[in-house]
Amino acid sequence: MTNAHTSQQALLKQAQLKQAVAQAALAYVKPGEVLGVGTGSTANLFIDGLRDLARDIPAAVASSEATRERLQAIGIEVVNANEVSRIAVYVDGADEINPQLAMIKGGGAALTREKIVAEMSDQFVCIADASKWVQRLGTFPLPIEVLPMARSMVARALVKLGGDPVYRQGVVTDNGNVILDVYNLDLSRPAEMEATINNIVGVVCNGLFARRPADVLLLGRDDGVEVITVS
Ligand code: A5P
Repeated sequence: MTNAHTSQQALLKQAQLKQAVAQAALAYVKPGEVLGVGTGSTANLFIDGLRDLARDIPAAVASSEATRERLQAIGIEVVNANEVSRIAVYVDGADEINPQLAMIKGGGAALTREKIVAEMSDQFVCIADASKWVQRLGTFPLPIEVLPMARSMVARALVKLGGDPVYRQGVVTDNGNVILDVYNLDLSRPAEMEATINNIVGVVCNGLFARRPADVLLLGRDDGVEVITVS
């Protein structure tokens, strides 16, 4: 078997696991309640599955413009976060998630709106294939949304914290900002690092979701969807 064939098989498997968790998350949607919807390929599969439930969903808050368009395309009304005081359930993917259900998010550059939706939600259901499960966060570079004029200044501050920031070329967020992807940060205390980075002037938001972790993880494994919570 060639390497190309093996990696194609792995991608196919990953796609199946994403489909399985997206499907499982439909059971968490509360009829008649506002739904928060995330961004990314796993979240997109979840949105596809919402088609049959659209009539039961009075409104959704989207974590990105891409998600807003996708929801509207299946007839779900998308409201501004300012129009609702709470969101019953938020379903979204992750780039990495650990046993405390703390996450790295922002691979799709939607981290700020994702964190706002997470903060407003009573329940955060993370949907992820097994490749996202880690004992320790930090192999995936940490995305940080930064005001454009502060990019270099923030990068220098991140180097002082031990990180190696890389400017994500050509990407402008839905909020008009830029992304730094930071390698090699010590994320052994994710909640502390989340607060430390938020304190750098010019940082809009960082992709550590430790202070408000997920409540439930639906993890797609070869033998089925595992439901993980933290007691
Ligand atoms: C979007 O900004 C991210 O937080 C996504 O949730 C994350 O990148 C997961 O994406 P996939 O579902 O495509 O792996």
